[in-house]
Amino acid sequence: MSIMAAKGSRTIFACQNCGHQSRKWLGKCPDCGDWNTFVEERDSSTAKGGGAVLRTGLRLRESRPVQFVDIEAQDDAREATGIEEFDRVLGGGIVPGSLVLIGGEPGIGKSTLLSQVADRLSHLYGNVLYVSGEESERQIKLRGDRLGINPAGLYLLSETSLERIFDEINKLQPKAIIIDSVQTIFSEKLESAPGSVSQVREVAGQFMLLSKNLTTPVFLIGHVTKDGMIAGPKALEHIVDTVLYFEGERHHNHRILRAAKNRFGAANELGIFEMTGQGLIGVPNPSEIFLSERPIGASGSAVVAAMEGTRPMLVEIQALVSSSKFGTGRRTTQGVEINRVALLVAMLEKRLGFHLSGDDIFVNLVGGISLDEPAVDMGIVAAVTSSFRNIPISEQTIVFGEVGLAGEVRASAHAAIRLREIARMGFKRVIMPQNNLSGLPEDDRIEIIGVRSVTDALDALF
Ligand code: TYD
Ligand code: MG
Repeated sequence: MSIMAAKGSRTIFACQNCGHQSRKWLGKCPDCGDWNTFVEERDSSTAKGGGAVLRTGLRLRESRPVQFVDIEAQDDAREATGIEEFDRVLGGGIVPGSLVLIGGEPGIGKSTLLSQVADRLSHLYGNVLYVSGEESERQIKLRGDRLGINPAGLYLLSETSLERIFDEINKLQPKAIIIDSVQTIFSEKLESAPGSVSQVREVAGQFMLLSKNLTTPVFLIGHVTKDGMIAGPKALEHIVDTVLYFEGERHHNHRILRAAKNRFGAANELGIFEMTGQGLIGVPNPSEIFLSERPIGASGSAVVAAMEGTRPMLVEIQALVSSSKFGTGRRTTQGVEINRVALLVAMLEKRLGFHLSGDDIFVNLVGGISLDEPAVDMGIVAAVTSSFRNIPISEQTIVFGEVGLAGEVRASAHAAIRLREIARMGFKRVIMPQNNLSGLPEDDRIEIIGVRSVTDALDALF
């Protein structure tokens, strides 16, 4: 027996961003690369042996091997909430017994969204328990009144002790559980502070066992902060079944719910909401909103047909090319990756002879969303060129396609779905990859121009 074990606990240092553990303090995390994230924690859990024991008094169901053919597929068992944008991101509804993590910055609307979900679930499926470690029952009720919800079977519990929460779950036997937030809940069995990586992992691990045993869905809300001082949801991503991130710009009303991981559906699925005075309202036709304030006849504006998950989205890209005061130009982007823009600009310089190195280039995706899809490339190239040459692009024209380093335009996935959305939104002309043309359904509402290179695309555009 080592001295460590005799003491019953040992000191470890854990990265508060990703959960990486080390015996000594480190300035930079070798796992996630973040700086100054190591915090000393007392790890008593390892001394007590293993994490697979439910510490909280619930009896574990015993399991036996079952033959593959005897297992019934469960897909019809999904429980839809009726909040379409939410169900879509989950892959069609809530899977019984799943553990879902919803991360996002403070104030983005996590509690609002989950209050609305709790309301729907309580109407449809029975008792729902909403546990808050941050707000009192009255504060939650106040928000609920503002949202206009009036659920009979919704129970609120203002509590931070994991053990107490499990007691109440045992008594109430709810059909769904919401924990707001995972960083405020702590297990009395661990010595580390609430919000530390060991606590957050312990809480998530215990809820994983609970959700699987009771086949009750559990939603964990997790705060994401940029400086990483609170244990980040990154440390939980591998524990839970599904990870959703709630994003948006503080000064825009649009909120985007994005699946980063989903054991029961496609990752990268998007749900779009608008924050209003009465809570979050789903946006079924995002293209309409993203294009509603488009300037007509202004140079530097291009519309691109992008896809997020299975969903087409037409968005405006704006570029501004202006000569720099300091010899070398800066590149600034919002909503698109800065390296992607730098690469495409370098390609325009090399292949088309544009002189851009002395210019500042700003590229924005309008509407407060961000996209990292390759087909957006053509939109960036079109917007930058339009601003550089100071020639507007026709508002009836739309582009999409990936651009390679040699200036070639590469095929994009789901061309037919993009075209359908393009036609629906009333565009008359699309400039797209030549390689996507074969097998496309006929559509006489739009003129389709297939291109092989950026040179061809710019000839067609200007
Ligand atoms: P909240 O759900 O409390 O955020 P989180 O739980 O992610 O920290 O929402 C915070 C913001 O949303 C707050 O600034 C107020 C705003 N809000 C509305 O605009 N309309 C509403 O109906 C509600 C409930 C909140
Ligand atoms: Mg909240």
